[in-house]
Amino acid sequence: MACSAVTRCFFDYFTPKILVIQSKKVGAINRLGQALVIAYIVGYVCVLKKGYQDTDSVISSVTIKVKGIALTNTSDLGLRVWDEADYIVPPQEENSFFVLTNLNITPNQTQSRCAENPGNETSCSSDQDCRRGFRDSRRNGVQTGRCVDFSRTEKTCEVFAWCPLEKDNSPPKPAMLAEAENFTVLIKNNIRFPKFNFNKRNILPHVNSSYLSHCVFNRTADPDCPIFRLKDIVSEANEDFQTMAVQGGVMGVQIHWHCNLDLSEKSCVPQYAFRRLDNKDPDNVAPGYNFRFAKYYTNADGQETRTLIKGYGIRFDVMVFGNAGKFNIIPTLLNIGAGLALLGLVNVVCDWISLTCMQKRHFYREQKFTYVNDYETLSNDVP
Ligand SMILES: *[C@@H]1O[C@H](CO)[C@@H](O)[C@H](O)[C@H]1NC(C)=O
Repeated sequence: MACSAVTRCFFDYFTPKILVIQSKKVGAINRLGQALVIAYIVGYVCVLKKGYQDTDSVISSVTIKVKGIALTNTSDLGLRVWDEADYIVPPQEENSFFVLTNLNITPNQTQSRCAENPGNETSCSSDQDCRRGFRDSRRNGVQTGRCVDFSRTEKTCEVFAWCPLEKDNSPPKPAMLAEAENFTVLIKNNIRFPKFNFNKRNILPHVNSSYLSHCVFNRTADPDCPIFRLKDIVSEANEDFQTMAVQGGVMGVQIHWHCNLDLSEKSCVPQYAFRRLDNKDPDNVAPGYNFRFAKYYTNADGQETRTLIKGYGIRFDVMVFGNAGKFNIIPTLLNIGAGLALLGLVNVVCDWISLTCMQKRHFYREQKFTYVNDYETLSNDVP
């Protein structure tokens, strides 16, 4: 008995029955669904997302050269000219450069003894108030245990330190190197899309050396020039260079490479964008960007001497983003397959609507499913 049922099942042939529902509502929903899916495939997947392309992201290297001269005339330094070896600290950095715009300078420091700057714990009236060997990370040196004159009216503990101590450490206003706004920077950027073996650099092939020797980047007039005036970089980010120069800050230079390698190589050009990266609110605590560095030399007496500089300035971080696309058959087939599957989904939705939401749903359901009563046929076979 079981054997014959299996045999019958084995020899059954299944074929889907096509039910044509001549209803304007379901028909319209079906066509609308198909139109949406086709619009999605053509408009979004193909045109916007370029689903027929294989993509790769960028590998890049950046080198930088700043040029410009600034002249200062102050009481400590006299007339002084500053060139790039003076104001670029350190001389080389990775994807970044720092331009000194403002400074407090303390010349002729030697390892010796002097009165600590006045403060809560450093003021004293006699040697008893000072502790020999005491040091504090917020102070300048190690106390010697003596109480000495800081000024005519004030006494402070003596320290062993780099003397004379740094005194005024608020930034001069206006910034000392205000002329830094006219410095220019040449940013050389080589990129590579390894999957497509494609190399390019931001000095485009049509740029010759005479153009490069005098051009300055300008978004409308000279968009291909890789030489930027520092003031333009800052003002493109809606900031004022002279304000930023006083306390220092951090700027981002973004280079975007979005290349469609199905088009000619000429259309693959960099786009520049500039942003301020630090918090610009001048009233916030600890604004700007500064650090100390020193230049060491030996004075006429053979004593080690240094010039301490508390430098304020703008660090420019160069960030390179990029991706490239090129036609490839594999992603094309994958996207076509996904599109066809979505078209199939429209049928499922229409079936569901016609069988559950329409007025004639019971009628459609009768037509859609044909129930064969096996028990009846069985009872006819076996009396
Ligand atoms: C920068 O250059 C411009 C034009 O050459 C000049 O007018 C301006 O005074 C310069 N800026 C500074 C701070 O010297």
